[in-house]
Parts: sequence; C-alpha cells; structure tokens
Amino acid sequence: MLGPVLLAAARSDRMRRVVAAAPVTRPVVNRFVAGDALDPALTAVRALTDSGLDVTLDHLGEDVTDRATAHATRDAYLRLLETLRDEKLGDRAEVSVKLSAFGQTLPDGGHDIALESVRQVADLATEIGTTVTLDMEDHTTVDSTLAVLRELRRAHPRTGAVLQSYLFRTEDDARALATEGSRVRLVKGAYREPASVAFQDKKDVDRSYVRSLRTLFAGDGYPMVGSHDPRLIAIAQELAARNHRAAGTYEFQMLYGIRTAEQRRLADEGERMRIYVPYGADWYGYFMRRLAERPANLAFFLRSFAPAR
Ligand code: FDA
Repeated sequence: MLGPVLLAAARSDRMRRVVAAAPVTRPVVNRFVAGDALDPALTAVRALTDSGLDVTLDHLGEDVTDRATAHATRDAYLRLLETLRDEKLGDRAEVSVKLSAFGQTLPDGGHDIALESVRQVADLATEIGTTVTLDMEDHTTVDSTLAVLRELRRAHPRTGAVLQSYLFRTEDDARALATEGSRVRLVKGAYREPASVAFQDKKDVDRSYVRSLRTLFAGDGYPMVGSHDPRLIAIAQELAARNHRAAGTYEFQMLYGIRTAEQRRLADEGERMRIYVPYGADWYGYFMRRLAERPANLAFFLRSFAPAR
C-alpha cells in the first residue's frame, strides 16, 4: 500500500523540500546515489570497474520545466563523456539519460528539443567509443522516447532502449526491438501507472517480464537484463543457454548499492554485469522510487529520524 503513496510523493515539490532539507536524509541517500557531483561518482566508478564490473552513469534529473535547465542537462552529459574519455573509461562506462531532463515534456516542441540535445550526447558517445541508453519514464512518454530511439539509431545503431514489463504494450515493443544490434534493457517498471495501461499485480508483471525476456533472448539483439530478482536472473541464464548465447552477447544490470553480493556473484561466474550509477544533486525522484520498491528501505529511512539513544 505504501508504494503508490511514495510514488505520488516522488512527484510532489512540497515533499521534495521536506525530505531534502532533513539533515538525516543524506546518509540514507548515499546508499543509492554515488555522490552529489561527478568527482565522487568517479571514485565509485573506478572501484566498480577495477573489480571487473561495467557501469552506466546517470546524471540525476527529470521533468525539467524550462529550456535552460534542459540545456544544462545536455552540457552535464557532454562534460561527463569528456571526463570518461580523459579517464579512458569509454570501454567500461556508458551513460543513461532521461529524456524528460532534456526537455521532452516541455510544451511547444519538447520532443524536438530533447532529440536535438540528446543527439549531441550520442554523437560524442560514439566518438569516444561508448553508448547511450534512453531510460524509460512514465507511459505517456513511451511513444516519444521510442521515436527518439529510432532517430538516434540511424547514426548510432547501438543506442539502447528500456522496456518496462508492467506495460501491456511491452511484449509488442520487445518483438519490434529484438533485431540485430539492438540493445534493450528490460525492467519491471518504477512509475505509478493506471490499470488501463499496466499490470497492477506483481505476478502479472513478472510473467510479462519472462515473456518479453524470451523474445529478446531468441531474437538478434543484445538483451540487458535489468533486475535484482533472483528468479528472473536464473530464467535469463537458462534462456541464454537455450539460445546458445555466449557471455558478452547479453548482460545483466543492477542499480548502485542494491544486491551487491549478487552483482559480484554474477561477474565471478563470467557474466557481463553492469551497474547503474546515479549521481548529482537532483536525487529526490530517484531516491523515492527506490524507497517505494521496498518497504524495508522506508523503515531504514524513518529509523534514521529517531533520536539517538
Ligand atoms: P523486485 O522489485 O521484485 O526486487 C527483487 C529483489 O531485489 C527484492 O526482493 C530485493 O531483494 C531487491 N531490491 C529491488 N529493489 C530494491 C530496492 N529499491 N532496495 C533494496 N533492494 C531492492 N525502471 C523504469 O521504469 N525505467 C528505467 O529506465 C529503469 N532503469 C533501470 C535500470 C536498471 C539497471 C535497473 C536494475 C532497474 C531500472 N529500473 C527502471 C527500475 C525497475 O523498473 C524496478 O523498479 C527495479 O529494478 C526493481 O525491480 P526488480 O526487477 O529488481 O524486482
């Protein structure tokens, strides 16, 4: 029951001010976010890549309401890619972007504003030998995001997409995207979606995940299994074996700070394991979605408000 309340709070400016101002918040946020700025995030990235894990970096931000902020997002990603080039991390690190942070939902041409900016990011990513993955946000943005993907893939065929198994449409989208060279991260989905477009029951979301996973593994693309769910991870490994896929023709992905022992286990087994590393000052929405996913996280967060004994 708490999940929907937290997901609503994730979009509330009032809650944002209260949560962000609480002095006890920061240590809890640090469990999920690699730092307020690029420098501390790079320390985390180095530790991960040195231990054999790959990363995808997310400069936190979403739902921008003006063009200047949208352009600032683009500039932050260009700076990030220049740093990855200078640090020679291009073969281990890619970037994940949320198009709403590039202006996708701005009235009067938001889609084109986002496309124009993210194209510059994709150009530089290709130049330094890495890739961009387009995160997927709420269902109202899916058509626009997939249209941006098609456009980017003309010049940058390795641009990645994200599909969310809670959406009814996702099996069809998975079929359409299971083509040669197509990188697709499959996740369950992290937004509050109505029953008209999305499965509400966890079991149905999981079944839909397995159906789309089968399609992606049987196809010619590059599946990216974005989940911490041990059952789905085992099924993905079975599908990889059944479809005679060698390690490196698919990968697993997990979020920074979540199930780190499992991240290690899969990498030690020889699987390609990529960690999604978010950083930046605008951590509120991301953080609240992580609380909503797991009641234990919320309990941990609330306990930190209790006076020290
Ligand atoms: P599930 O929620 O069932 O969790 C399985 C187990 O994992 C739990 O029992 C617990 O042990 C652990 N776990 C999961 N979440 C946890 C948490 N927050 N804290 C502590 N433990 C946790 N969504 C989206 O809508 N658009 C996107 O672009 C992305 N991108 C993305 C990238 C990557 C790399 C990942 C791994 C996930 C996303 N997501 C996402 C989020 C995704 O939709 C989903 O909300 C979370 O991954 C949680 O779902 P699981 O598949 O892990 O299963």
